[in-house]
Amino acid sequence: MQVIFKIRRQKQDKSSWVQSYTLDVESGNTILDCLNRIKWEQDGSLTFRKNCRNTICGSCGMKINGRSALACKENIGSEIEKFSLAANGNIPEIMIAPFGNLPVVKDLVVDMKPFWDDLERVEPYISTNARNIPEREFLQTPEERSQLNQMGNCIMCGACYSECNAKEVNAGFVGPHALAKAYRMIADTRDSDTENRLENYNSTDGVWGCTRCYFCNAVCPMEVAPMDQIGKIKQEILPRHEANDSRSIRHRKVMIELVKDGGWVDERKFGLFVVGNYFKDLKGLLSLAPLGLRMLTRGKFPTSFDASEGTEEVRSIIEAIQQNR
Ligand code: SF4
Ligand code: SF4
Ligand code: FES
Repeated sequence: MQVIFKIRRQKQDKSSWVQSYTLDVESGNTILDCLNRIKWEQDGSLTFRKNCRNTICGSCGMKINGRSALACKENIGSEIEKFSLAANGNIPEIMIAPFGNLPVVKDLVVDMKPFWDDLERVEPYISTNARNIPEREFLQTPEERSQLNQMGNCIMCGACYSECNAKEVNAGFVGPHALAKAYRMIADTRDSDTENRLENYNSTDGVWGCTRCYFCNAVCPMEVAPMDQIGKIKQEILPRHEANDSRSIRHRKVMIELVKDGGWVDERKFGLFVVGNYFKDLKGLLSLAPLGLRMLTRGKFPTSFDASEGTEEVRSIIEAIQQNR
């Protein structure tokens, strides 16, 4: 079958362009097989990274039909099926582009330095303190070790980082890969730096910067589920802090309080409690005034609040979860 590959090409700091290549392929060919053939048979200047060809090294990350993925993992047949590319009998077109959130060096090769620098920010090593142990070996039970399996599967491919909406709008956000690794350190019984780590990740450049868009979970080829690991770090941070400590902490605590009270969120109280810090932050309260006025004049301001019918049930579910934590 014939397939057209539309590849976004670029030289460093220059504008990009899309170049098309047509290949005769088989359904089971991986995208990496096809890129290799384009390079060997049609255009030796096409540039991309690869190594293991087997979803191990994490080198061949790129955007395939709009989402970040590994070229050696995805194949022609599944791309055509997933994106209905063969509809109307047209020659299927597969779009290839470099990762997002990272500067392009050439064509599909991006500069991974920001990715590695961000990883370094979470100190992804067992604390030096914990290394000073009297025994010869650094022992863990099989159960303790199994807590690290999911995060340990990360191959540092960068797909989550490329797709991260928080990173796109906040360059300081440390990224899903780093926070998944951060939770791996917290969950590791050999590490003795948990309290410092939790403080370091307790910011909008850390766990509170995540917008919970789910994209990192959706694209991760190793099912590391970075967003879930970020959630687990938040669950460790929340009981250690009062609502007064920061707006991010307050946001979570007020949300739970209000849902327990009324079965869903009373938005009037939500803004006043979170931004206005329970009426203690005058500046915060004043900052809400323009929005409140705009909502009032457009008839969008909720003047009353009715608790949901299932409030009792919702409350008991939340309390059961809180008690079992
Ligand atoms: S869920 Fe959070 S960390 Fe994951 S991609 Fe979205 S914003 Fe980034
Ligand atoms: S968490 Fe998944 S997507 Fe992110 S770098 Fe690791 S393996 Fe790749
Ligand atoms: S070439 Fe190693 S993961 Fe694709």
